Amino acid sequence: MGRSRELSSCDEKGRRIAIITYGCQMNVRDSEVICGLLKKDNWQLTTKPEEADVVILNTCSVRQHAEDKVWSEIGKFKTRKLANSQTPKPIIGLVGCMAQNYREDVFKRAPEVDFVVGPSDIAKIPKIIQRIMNSKLQTPNSKLFESKIWETDGGLRPDEIYHTGFYLGGKHAYVVISEGCSNFCSYCVVPYVRGNLRNRDCRDILREIEEAIDKGINEITLLGQNVNEYESGVRSRELGVRSQELGVRSSEFGVSFIDLLRMVNQIKGLKAFSFITSHPKDTTLDLFKAMADLEKLKKYLHLPVQSGSDRILKLMNRGYTKEFYLDLAKNYRKIVRDGVLTTDIIVGFPGETEKDFQETYDLVKDIKFDAGYFFKYSPRPHTLAAQFRDDVPREEKERRHSLILKLQKEISSRSKGKSKK
Ligand code: 5AD
Ligand code: SF4
Repeated sequence: MGRSRELSSCDEKGRRIAIITYGCQMNVRDSEVICGLLKKDNWQLTTKPEEADVVILNTCSVRQHAEDKVWSEIGKFKTRKLANSQTPKPIIGLVGCMAQNYREDVFKRAPEVDFVVGPSDIAKIPKIIQRIMNSKLQTPNSKLFESKIWETDGGLRPDEIYHTGFYLGGKHAYVVISEGCSNFCSYCVVPYVRGNLRNRDCRDILREIEEAIDKGINEITLLGQNVNEYESGVRSRELGVRSQELGVRSSEFGVSFIDLLRMVNQIKGLKAFSFITSHPKDTTLDLFKAMADLEKLKKYLHLPVQSGSDRILKLMNRGYTKEFYLDLAKNYRKIVRDGVLTTDIIVGFPGETEKDFQETYDLVKDIKFDAGYFFKYSPRPHTLAAQFRDDVPREEKERRHSLILKLQKEISSRSKGKSKK
């Protein structure tokens, strides 16, 4: 989370593109998809943004800090872009979650940016770049040739974009199973920047995995903001012989997430797979049983709890209580032997008292997560919580953050020590 990654490949003068990626695995996969589309359009990828003809920043809006990093990165291109010289000026694109968050306001804040494309519209990027290139040829001296904005339409992306066959990893691939999210946790910007939940057709997901295997991939991670809510409208009779071959049991209804796991487990040539991220409210004992049963499925569950206080969980609109989560964790450990359990926690949510924080701290102590990712609350535009008073002072957020981080470090080092014995 939050690290930026630059893509590597070969160079060819005139049509070189660099992509810098911020944020989550979904963004990593989106960058790969964009690269695959551009490669089909004869673009060469480069790791060196300073030498590229087009620089794309694939951005994250999850916290203010993630956005600040991008604004400062854009600043670096300003000098080169606005330099009054004959040196070629790169075309700069801002895509991903920030693009959706700021839309045309990006141009006001950073006039050096040429195009802005939200997550649902990444398929349009090659055409947008071509259009800008053409207008640049026509008006070579103009500072801003043609700046374009494509807003998200919230629709499902065209299937083809997942089939360019371009993967960054040699053996591992991310596979998107659903886009967007409709849960509206009160702190979270995702539904506003990535739109409502849309599920991909399971047949297309399976086809993508099989193609990846043909390309030498043998491990995959299924991606979604909340994978447990996955449901494909496809009924087993539409799957034809596959449904028996692949072991789908719930014939009359659509394909559930657990059905999908069973089908993926059957794919020949696949060695291992996992999924991320799970929402506790949609996580069931059946999922744990499937995790225990399916031999290729990794025993790894990322189950963000966010808080250990019922009062805060309610304000966060999470849809479960501390008791419910503790129960889930207990059952997971019982059913999925040696299963890894990790979590996300936000400290300093509006109204979080010392007592609320103590409850979160005690929950971490009690569950003993294998790893935890801890965040200081950051108000996000559009969200419900942005209307609450951000009343936990910065120093207090930092204190709580370092306390819980320290606790997790102790837990993790103790459990590492144990597994060595
Ligand atoms: N402030 C702080 N952390 C946040 N997260 C999501 N939104 C915010 C926010 N506004 C954290 C949650 C989520 C993880 C990806 O980022 O813990 O699970
Ligand atoms: Fe960041 Fe969320 Fe967008 Fe991923 S989906 S890039 S975490 S805002």
